[in-house]
Amino acid sequence: MMANAERRRSRATVRVAIALAAMLLGGAAASAPVTVGGPFTLTDGDGTVVTEARFRGKWLLVYFGFTHCPVACPTALLEVADALHRLGDAAAAVQPLFITVDPERDTAATLRDYVGSFDPRIVGLTGTAEQIDRVARAYGVVYEAHRRGPDDRDYVVDHSTYIYLMDPAGNFVRGFDAEATGADIAAALRARMGSRPATTVP
Ligand code: NI
Repeated sequence: MMANAERRRSRATVRVAIALAAMLLGGAAASAPVTVGGPFTLTDGDGTVVTEARFRGKWLLVYFGFTHCPVACPTALLEVADALHRLGDAAAAVQPLFITVDPERDTAATLRDYVGSFDPRIVGLTGTAEQIDRVARAYGVVYEAHRRGPDDRDYVVDHSTYIYLMDPAGNFVRGFDAEATGADIAAALRARMGSRPATTVP
C-alpha cells in the first residue's frame, strides 16, 4: 500500500515537472493548466516569519536551492546578483528570493550570510520541512537528498534549477533555465517593467 501511494505521488510529481518544463521553456505542450507560485509561510534571515504578502509590489526572482550546493546555486545567485547590478536603480523594484530545499542545515542566519555574500538585496528563506515541501510543490520544484558518505549530514540535494519571475501581483511571468545570464534576466525584467532610464554597465 505504502509503495503504491509513493508511486502515485512520484508519478504526479513527474507529471507536474514535465508540464512545467514545457511551459517554462515556452512550449505549448502543457495539456493541463498549471499554476506556478502561491501563498507561503517561511522564515527570513532575521528569523522573522514572512508570507508572500510581504513581497507584494515587487518583481520577484524566486530560486530554490541550498547553501552546500557545489555549482548550480552559486551560479544562479551570481547571475541574479549580476542582473541586479545591471538594473541599477530599477533593481529597487526587484526582490530576489532564495528558498532553501535543505531546511535542516540552512538556518535563517546561515542563509542570510550565504545569500548576502552574493548580494545583500537577496533574501534567503527557510522554514519547517513541511513549509518547504509546500512552497516547492506550489512552484513545481522537485528536490531529493542523496547521502554522500557514512555521516548523516553529508548529503547533497538534487533540485530544479529554474529561476521564476513573478510580477508585483504575485503572478508567474516566466522561468529562466540554468543557461540564463544576468544580462538575460535584466533584459527580461526591463522589458516588462516598462521603459525606465537605462543604467549603463561597462
Ligand atoms: Ni543548488
